[in-house]
Amino acid sequence: MKTVELGRTGEQVGQLALGAMLMGTSTDEPTSVEMLDRFLDAGGNLVDTANCYCWWAREGSLGGESEELLGRWLPGRRDRVFLATKGSAMVWDQDGVWRDGRPDWPLARTRSEGASAATLAKAIDDSLRRLRTDHVDLYYVHVDDRATPLEETLEALAGIVAAGKARYIGWSNVRTWRLERIRQLCAANGWPAPVALQQQHTYLRPRAGLDSASIVDDEQLDYLREHDDLSLVAYSPILKGVYDSADKRTGHWAMENYEGPDAQARLAAVAEVATELGATPNQVVLAWLLRATPTTIPLVGPRTLAQYETAHAALDVVLSDEQAARLDAAGA
Ligand SMILES: NC(=O)c1ccc[n+]([C@@H]2O[C@H](COP(=O)([O-])OP(=O)(O)OC[C@H]3O[C@@H](n4cnc5c(N)ncnc54)[C@H](OP(=O)(O)O)[C@@H]3O)[C@@H](O)[C@H]2O)c1
Repeated sequence: MKTVELGRTGEQVGQLALGAMLMGTSTDEPTSVEMLDRFLDAGGNLVDTANCYCWWAREGSLGGESEELLGRWLPGRRDRVFLATKGSAMVWDQDGVWRDGRPDWPLARTRSEGASAATLAKAIDDSLRRLRTDHVDLYYVHVDDRATPLEETLEALAGIVAAGKARYIGWSNVRTWRLERIRQLCAANGWPAPVALQQQHTYLRPRAGLDSASIVDDEQLDYLREHDDLSLVAYSPILKGVYDSADKRTGHWAMENYEGPDAQARLAAVAEVATELGATPNQVVLAWLLRATPTTIPLVGPRTLAQYETAHAALDVVLSDEQAARLDAAGA
């Protein structure tokens, strides 16, 4: 696997990252371990988890299953892994959060632990204990927390880095203006600035009028092109696999933020290029992201080994300049 530099840190990470969100819940341990081993053997190193993964997979869970599984897998492999985890989105009270067997997301979001100094100090220690390691390589604020002063969060993160518990910091689900404020505060106070931005990003473009702090928009792309010390890590790059199948797309919640004529035109372009290349549409989307500017690290979340293999095989899908230009230009 080719590597890319994470921000301007000098650290090389594989161009494709592996998400462990489902590991230990929807994906059983033997399958997860096999997937992680294949990923390492193929030259991948950036493995992504979070303290809250994956409470919503199982009623009664508080999360932590993914980190615990990684903690059992890591011994003997730790130095080959660029390990990323996140804090701030753990739900502190599960009471009433499940309704009719499903998480009540609006309610759950009101109970997110947030990014106060005390919360982060405990969260990183809990993550390190579950991961059975003394440090992570990258520690993200999982969901930007506007209720806590940024100075408090940033000073706490600086302390975590100074203590050697995290080597670098990142931010996720955050608006561009906040990112700029974060970076200015870091520069003014000598705090470590984020080197990775983890956002939802794919080939489809958010629908007109969408108001989301989590999905990359044109302004954020422009910002990232101007600030190459911040790498874009693109989560849900294949939108839960909806590109491969019209049946899966129909009514799928992952499509809600994209539906419309622009999405239809881009889906048609992806299907056309996939047929030309003998690849799947999901693979074409990953190949398109892999050659995007700003440099983008797709963060895939396969549930099965077969899904992992098709995602990995996207590294060998080569778009011609003409095909890439056609994909770029498609839209309504
Ligand atoms: N920062 C954040 O807020 C945030 C949010 C979400 C995720 N993440 C991170 O990003 C990682 C990836 O996110 P994601 O799971 O949303 O990404 P994704 O790769 O877009 O979606 C994964 C889902 O896609 C389906 N899938 C995967 N490969 C497929 C294939 N080859 N063909 C058809 N379907 C396929 C599976 O769905 P089925 O189960 O239906 O088969 C799987 O559960 C996570 O593991 C996590 O580490 C971060």
